[in-house]
Amino acid sequence: MNKVETSFLHKNQFGDDFLWGVSTAAFQIEGAHDTDGKGPSIWDVFTSQKGKIKNGHHASTACDFYNSYQNDIDLIRELNIPNFRFSISWPRIMPTGVPPINQAGIAYYNKIIDALLLAGIEPWITLYHWDLPHDLELKGGWTNRESVNWFSAYVEVCVQNFGDRVKNWMVINEPSVFTGAGYFLGIHAPGKKGITNYLKAMHHVTMATAAGAKIIQNHIPDAHIGTTFSCTHIEPATQSAKDIEAAKRVDTLLNRTFIEPILGMGYPQADLPVLKKLNAYIIEDDLHNLSFDFDFIGLQCYTREVVKSSLLIPYIGAELISAEKRNVISTDMGWEVYPPALYNVLKKFNAYDGIKKIIITENGAAFPDTLKNGKVYDIKRTHYIQDHLEQILKAKKDGLQVDGYFVWTLTDNFEWAEGYNARFGLIHVDFDTQQRTIKHSGLWFKDFLS
Ligand code: NOJ
Repeated sequence: MNKVETSFLHKNQFGDDFLWGVSTAAFQIEGAHDTDGKGPSIWDVFTSQKGKIKNGHHASTACDFYNSYQNDIDLIRELNIPNFRFSISWPRIMPTGVPPINQAGIAYYNKIIDALLLAGIEPWITLYHWDLPHDLELKGGWTNRESVNWFSAYVEVCVQNFGDRVKNWMVINEPSVFTGAGYFLGIHAPGKKGITNYLKAMHHVTMATAAGAKIIQNHIPDAHIGTTFSCTHIEPATQSAKDIEAAKRVDTLLNRTFIEPILGMGYPQADLPVLKKLNAYIIEDDLHNLSFDFDFIGLQCYTREVVKSSLLIPYIGAELISAEKRNVISTDMGWEVYPPALYNVLKKFNAYDGIKKIIITENGAAFPDTLKNGKVYDIKRTHYIQDHLEQILKAKKDGLQVDGYFVWTLTDNFEWAEGYNARFGLIHVDFDTQQRTIKHSGLWFKDFLS
């Protein structure tokens, strides 16, 4: 495997301005869970509870990025990746979620930013990638309307300390996933369940998205401000009216609920009636305050879902038919490998008025990699990335807006409820030794970006 397998793709086909990057998140890589004054996050607490994470895995050390960041930044440079997306851990900056500020936390992120800039890599900050300070959860977390103010104060501290060097900001990562999994299903931190928790969290997170963006705008005049959404191409299982309607409800929930209020369209209550219950939490001019004119929207797309009508499932009346049941090729997450999903999602978001720029801020795949003779031949991941890049080219040829592509992710890391078994990295990590090995996919990406 000395020579990296070539494909017909060439970086130039995407244009000079196309942004290439790699994405990560603090809780999934940093470790150092209580180092230098960091407070516990909801994920520290959740992972310490029995039965929440596969194999009892936790992220106390994770990839030890907290200590080995320089080595990993050197690897990003070695892979020719010009943009690095990482998140700030709120409880590292404010251990209890509110002032006082932990200066060691500020110093840590200053070191990361400076090391990136020195290496010629552009920093892209996500302000919230799911690790809410635990003390705030004790006050209700995102279900408490105060969360908008807590978050605003935290954003203020971040932009004041890092805004002189960082221009690219993303406010919130995948709100539909962390509110759905964390506040409705209870399978992610903080493990809350039920429609009331979910709808409250949904509204407050959406308000926090706009509030955070306005703070960035006020402090950093030349900021490039975005926020990221998970999106999945949805198809009905059959052409029956029932399945088509069910697919529409799932599409509304997964793809529209969080972006439409931001675009000034309000919540899509007509297509998902349960969202009418949100009216109990919407007060005064909330709907007006929810909108913000983002410089870019980050889309994170991994797969498609096929949906059938099901009266047994409350609120949504729909069921997803798993990739396994459909007997299609899937990743270690059980997600179907279906590259046209990316094209379809781009088409869907291009249809909105008011989106200036779209960046694919995450795309990638988990496969069972094996390290053999110091090498990882992850050909499935290489093809996954190449096939998705083909879809981006197709979208560009068809005149759709798409301005960048960030791979999820740099190194294998802590994949939330899946623990360390789902490996998404361009770089393999031996979690016993913290040894890094660039996989075939990483070598291919490096060649492609050279
Ligand atoms: C979305 C999330 O932002 C990220 O944290 C996660 O690891 C990947 N998708 C893969 O599931």
